[in-house]
Amino acid sequence: MNLRFAALLLLPLLSARPVLATPPVLPGQLIFQKNCVRCHGPNGKKGLNGAHDLTKSNLNAFGRTYLVTNGMGKMPAFGKVLTPAQVQQVVAYSLTLR
Ligand code: HEC
Repeated sequence: MNLRFAALLLLPLLSARPVLATPPVLPGQLIFQKNCVRCHGPNGKKGLNGAHDLTKSNLNAFGRTYLVTNGMGKMPAFGKVLTPAQVQQVVAYSLTLR
């Protein structure tokens, strides 16, 4: 009886566990999957339509933020699709691609 009660109290803690145990999914990863993978591929290397290999890009966060917001050539502008915060997140994620 007591044990069951204790288990009930622990339940929220236990269900929160896996989130902490697995490496956090960067919010930018989901944005990348939705908006960028079709040209850049899941690892940034796909290069559809002449999309540059993101793993080889030496653009820093500032340059990428500008490019993603305003577009360039065949790269669409995302300034109207994504909020500035989302652009920041997806740029941060793109910088982790290796
Ligand atoms: C319709 C295809 C397409 C989509 C979708 C797309 N890109 Fe691109 N991307 C390109 C192309 C093409 C270029 C090369 C642009 C140029 O230099 O003319 C590029 C270039 C880039 C570069 C610059 C790389 C370098 O060093 O030159 C970055 C960073 C980038 N894209 C990030 C993203 C991110 C982040 C997303 C999603 C929010 C995205 N792209 C979505 C086609 C795409």
